[in-house]
Amino acid sequence: MRKSILSRLQGYRYEHSLGVERAAIMLAEKYGEDPEKAGTAGILHDITKYLSPQEQLNLCGKYGIIPCTVEKSEPKMLHGKTAAAIARAEYHMPEDICDAIACHTTGKNHMTLLDKILYLADYIEETRDFPGVDKARELAQIDIDSALLYCYDQTLTELVARGKLIHSDTIAAYNDMIRQGVSWRDK
Ligand SMILES: [Fe+2]
Ligand SMILES: [Fe+2]
Repeated sequence: MRKSILSRLQGYRYEHSLGVERAAIMLAEKYGEDPEKAGTAGILHDITKYLSPQEQLNLCGKYGIIPCTVEKSEPKMLHGKTAAAIARAEYHMPEDICDAIACHTTGKNHMTLLDKILYLADYIEETRDFPGVDKARELAQIDIDSALLYCYDQTLTELVARGKLIHSDTIAAYNDMIRQGVSWRDK
């Protein structure tokens, strides 16, 4: 199965997916999640990322995914949900892995530990190189919720700066952390 998944990934996406697998295993061991589940979610999470916007929408039709208005404008955002559908239909993955894959692009309200691990692993894996990634890596070693909130802060700030649409699940994910009193500035 691992071979089959990896054969569908090319170039940077291949290296990135292996990086996410390693980071997810590391975080699972640190925070008490199943490393095998986390690693599997890692190699599967971007399996549909290479597809065109039209192909994303076609997969939505096939698997009964109803895109929201933001996703209709930015179909690439759907790659988490379409990858989860493939993980379920073609690789018979359990629901917790599929759920983590489905929300890795946007985050969501009430994320499970596995959801958080995949989101964070995608952000901090070793091939990532952008302003703020070192701070996220540092926070990931201290407290997973603070690290996650830092990722949301960075993502939201960047989306606003670039005049891009913000998915309602990302706002919900951010609000969920704030409501719980999470902060990264004091770390
Ligand atoms: Fe992704
Ligand atoms: Fe990714």
